[in-house]
Amino acid sequence: MSVKKKIENLLVTANRRLNSEYFELILQSNESLPGILPGQFAELKVDHTEHTFLRRPISFYDVNTDKSEVHLLIQEVGEGTRRLGQLEAGEFLNMIYPLGHSFTITEGTTFLLVSGGVGIAPMLLLGRKLKEAGKTPVFLFGFRSEKQWFDLSRFEALGEVFITTEDGSIGEKGLVTSHRVMNTGRFDGYYTCGPVPMMKAVSSIAASRDIFCEASLENTMACGIGACLTCAQPTVHGMKMACTDGPVFNTKELLW
Ligand SMILES: Cc1cc2nc3c(=O)[nH]c(=O)nc-3n(C[C@H](O)[C@H](O)[C@H](O)COP(=O)(O)OP(=O)(O)OC[C@H]3O[C@@H](n4cnc5c(N)ncnc54)[C@H](O)[C@@H]3O)c2cc1C
Ligand code: FES
Repeated sequence: MSVKKKIENLLVTANRRLNSEYFELILQSNESLPGILPGQFAELKVDHTEHTFLRRPISFYDVNTDKSEVHLLIQEVGEGTRRLGQLEAGEFLNMIYPLGHSFTITEGTTFLLVSGGVGIAPMLLLGRKLKEAGKTPVFLFGFRSEKQWFDLSRFEALGEVFITTEDGSIGEKGLVTSHRVMNTGRFDGYYTCGPVPMMKAVSSIAASRDIFCEASLENTMACGIGACLTCAQPTVHGMKMACTDGPVFNTKELLW
């Protein structure tokens, strides 16, 4: 059943700097939150900038239903995300949410959640939902270097956490796909989010083991609601819209 989408001004209650690139925004609604599932996202309106006419899509990092609070984990990459990084407690942020098709909680018990860079964002809520469903999430995160690393205790409370960095400054040196945990047969499936080459590699390993794999795509989006066709994604079922048919797809469907 699809949940009605809201367009709403949420109150910024905190903006926490996690490292030189990432920050966490905590936003509060004055109403009950609609059901928000892992992998879904919001389209954020960025005010007071010259070039950010289009809303910016950002995944849900965490949700606290009791407090009507949503958490977003954002990497500063351009004008829009830099402006979002300047938001202060007491300001309001306009969002359309919840958007998109979520990750699937499927059969099996142990799942590896693999991300690169800020692809880590949807993995906390996904790990929480897997745990609530009685499953075992294991996290494997790839960062460029320790500069992208931040306190991962919220993930560690849900399951084992493994880290790789390209320069070896923290965790195992190399890419996530060469980490030893990927070479074990202990998983019933993979969930992945991050750069496309990484997700393709994870998907190939899943295919070679004939296990479940879902990827959350970060195709460029304009409207976020299926109207503009900017986010078109070729699949075995024809062209699909990443914003409404995705962003999460079973990797067997993707032509990439
Ligand atoms: C479904 C989805 C979920 C996402 N979740 C997160 C998240 O949780 N945290 C996070 O930090 N980032 C996330 N992103 C990426 C984020 O939307 C972009 O980094 C952001 O829009 C860049 O805006 P900007 O103005 O700062 O940068 P710009 O100056 O506009 O561009 C900088 C870079 O961001 C890319 N980009 C710009 N606009 C978009 C857009 N509308 N959609 C996708 N990529 C874009 C550009 O290709 C360029 O490489 C997500 C993207 C998608 C599609
Ligand atoms: S972003 Fe407009 S159709 Fe997907």
